[in-house]
Parts: sequence; C-alpha cells; structure tokens
Amino acid sequence: MIDPEVLAREFEAVVGRSPRLYRAPGRVNLIGEHTDYNDGFVMPIALDRDTWVAAAPRADRRLVVRSREYRETVTIDLDTEDGSDGWQNHWSCYIRGVARTLDRGPERAALRTDGEKAGVARPFPAFARSEVRRASARLAEAPEARRRQGRVPGADLMIASDVPIGAGLSSSAALEVACGFALLDLAGAPIDLDHLARAAQRAEHDFAGTRCGIMDQTIACHGRADAALWLDTRSLDRRWLLLPPRVRVVVCNTMVRHELASGEYNARRADCEAGVAVLTGQRPSVRALRDVTLADLDAVSDRLSERVSRRCRHVITENARVGQAAEALENRDVHRVGALMNESHDSLRRDYEVSCTELDTMVAIARSLAGVHGARMTGGGFGGCVVALVDRAAVATVVREIVRKYKSATGTTPDVWPTGAGAGVGAWPVGASA
Ligand code: GLA
Repeated sequence: MIDPEVLAREFEAVVGRSPRLYRAPGRVNLIGEHTDYNDGFVMPIALDRDTWVAAAPRADRRLVVRSREYRETVTIDLDTEDGSDGWQNHWSCYIRGVARTLDRGPERAALRTDGEKAGVARPFPAFARSEVRRASARLAEAPEARRRQGRVPGADLMIASDVPIGAGLSSSAALEVACGFALLDLAGAPIDLDHLARAAQRAEHDFAGTRCGIMDQTIACHGRADAALWLDTRSLDRRWLLLPPRVRVVVCNTMVRHELASGEYNARRADCEAGVAVLTGQRPSVRALRDVTLADLDAVSDRLSERVSRRCRHVITENARVGQAAEALENRDVHRVGALMNESHDSLRRDYEVSCTELDTMVAIARSLAGVHGARMTGGGFGGCVVALVDRAAVATVVREIVRKYKSATGTTPDVWPTGAGAGVGAWPVGASA
C-alpha cells in the first residue's frame, strides 16, 4: 500500500514545495482478451492498487520526474524533446508520451482502432469536431502562458506505485493516466477522460511501440468501485455490472514478467489485420473482426493461413463470450461466468498462442480447487497474471493452496490476492487521511 501522506512529505522534502496528489488504478480484465484492437468488447475491473503522482508546477517547460520504484530521476524538456528516440524501453517513455501527446493538443491524440497502420495517425471518428472546438475554446480562455494549443506546464513529479510492473495489470496505463491527469489539472484545464484515455493510448503506440487497444486506459480513467466495466471499444459505449457479493476476484501473479512481449503483441494485431483485409474483400462493410461471424470466417478459410484463421477465431469467439458473460453477471450466474472464463483461457492458449507454461500451470491449479468458478490468463499474456472467480467463503483457502501448489510446481512463490474493484483516476486531497 502506498501512503499518500508519506509521499507528499517526501516530495516536500526533496522539491521544497507542497504537492497535489493524484492516483490511477491498474486493472484486471475478467474476460474479452485481445478484442479491444479489433473493435470488440471487454470487461475489466479497476484494481484496488494504484500509481500515485505527487505534482507541483514549475515555471519552466521541464518535467522533472522522480520514480520511487526505479530510484531514478529524469528530466523531460517539453520544448526540445522530439519524441520517443532512445527511450522506448525506459519507464519514462509513458510519461514522455502522454505529456507530448497532451501538449500537442487533443486532435493529435486520436487513433483509429480499426486497421490503422503503425505510425500513421488518422482522426478517430468518434472524436467529434465539436469536441476539438470546445477544447480550443477552453484553451483560448487559458492563461497567456498556456495559450498555445494543448500546452501542458512544466512540473515536478514524484511517482510511487503498488501496481506490479510487467505483470499484465496495466501498470503503464496507470502511470500514463495518473501523470496525464496531473498535468491537465496543474494546467487548470477541464479534463475529458475519454480524451485522456486516447492520449495515453497514443503514448503506448508512439513512445512505447505497443499498438494496444483502448481497454486499459479507459478503465484507468473510468473505473468504479464494486463493478466491472462492459465496454464496446468501437463506440466507447459502456455499462456497469455489479460484482455479485458471493464471489471475489482473485489475482494470481505467476511472477513471469512479460516486458519483452510487445513484438509478439504487435504480431497478433498484424495477424488480425491480415484476416480483416481478406474478409473486407468479401464484404466491404467489414471494418474489423468485430463485424465478422464464424460463418464469414469459414467462407474465406481457403484464403487465410491456418495461423491467421485461428487468431481470427479467437477474437470472434471471445467477443461472443463477453456478451454471454455480461448477461450471466447480470443474472448473478457466477458458475456460467466462470465457465466462460475457462473457455477464454483455452482459446487464448490454443488459438491465439499468448499463454505460457507458468500461466497454464496457475490456471490448472486454480481450477482444481473447490470454490473456484473459473480461471484464465489476463492481459496481453506471455507471463503476468491469472484471474480467478472464487466463492467468498473459499477465498482464504484458495489463496493459500494456490501459493503452495504453484510454489511446489515451479519453485517460485507467486503473489496471490483477492481484489475489490477500485475507482478510476482522481485527485486526492492532501491531508484527507490524516
Ligand atoms: C494489453 C493491451 C490492451 C489489450 C490487452 C489484451 O493489456 O494494452 O489494449 O489489448 O493487452 O486484451
């Protein structure tokens, strides 16, 4: 647990001024994996673990960022920084990315999720002109120093986080969203959370080199206590689904870090796009795998490689599972939700090939225990975490047994904990917990 008051005092001791405090959560996705960059459906919850930022404005245009986790300070000059060069694998790339994107102005944050080629930005259709006009009008009212469109201020930032890094729990989205929110708030700008989510997504594409979807940034912005978010990643329509009190979500970290997996991630996305290119030839209204049924896929199977067919099949069946899981959750049918989570994992392992031995071991252990309704890998894959849906009464035993059995199977002690659903990004009043 991060103590925000301690962070504020540390900031004051180092920087010599009182900070404002902000936090954004990590996430765990219950179902709907690798669907978000296919215009599909997802169902994450915000974790009750957060990335915290203590922040105070500076008179210049520099971000001086101190990371507690990395014990490192970096300086980012917003006027001379020209992009991601040389920083792609450094923790600060996410902050550079979101700051630069917000600094350029809202229309530059826009990304298409359907078929955008790497590095070519096109306006997102849902990002209405009126919204850009409203943002411009706001900026016109902003103080002289920030009159140039989209400018964020220089700031001292101190970061602390208890979202595990490289564990598939979106520590990077939490970092981007917390820092982006802090910079906009310091600038005195009204904050549009959908715009912030898109700016954070662009940071991943342009600065971290991962062509991710919009799920992680959206839940970091909009998370709600006790509820899962059903999100249509094409329209950004959302619904909140209450988690039934009789179950808890348990996160099981395999301790295998996935940090070098962005090449594999982008390769999966390219496979999906290859499938869409063929399917669009057949039916021009197809914009993404979201628009396709298994029958459509069968009809073009002779023109797709076996691998691309399997990738597409995962996305099509996973989208259907999200719909069924939402219905089951609304009916409080946790057994059905668990069964769909199990199917999701099997599809990710077999068709999408993003699981690994440790994830499969963790899933098998969780599924073998009484009180577990279902278990699956969560996030991008190649390591990271398993999410399980567990009867509240069985949680303590399940956690203990998972730790024991995973350690005996792999030699590694996993981090396993029941999580509540937390709130999305926000400012934290200094002194609130005193
Ligand atoms: C990562 C990405 C998300 C999503 C998941 C897989 O977390 O950031 O956009 O694609 O992988 O579902």
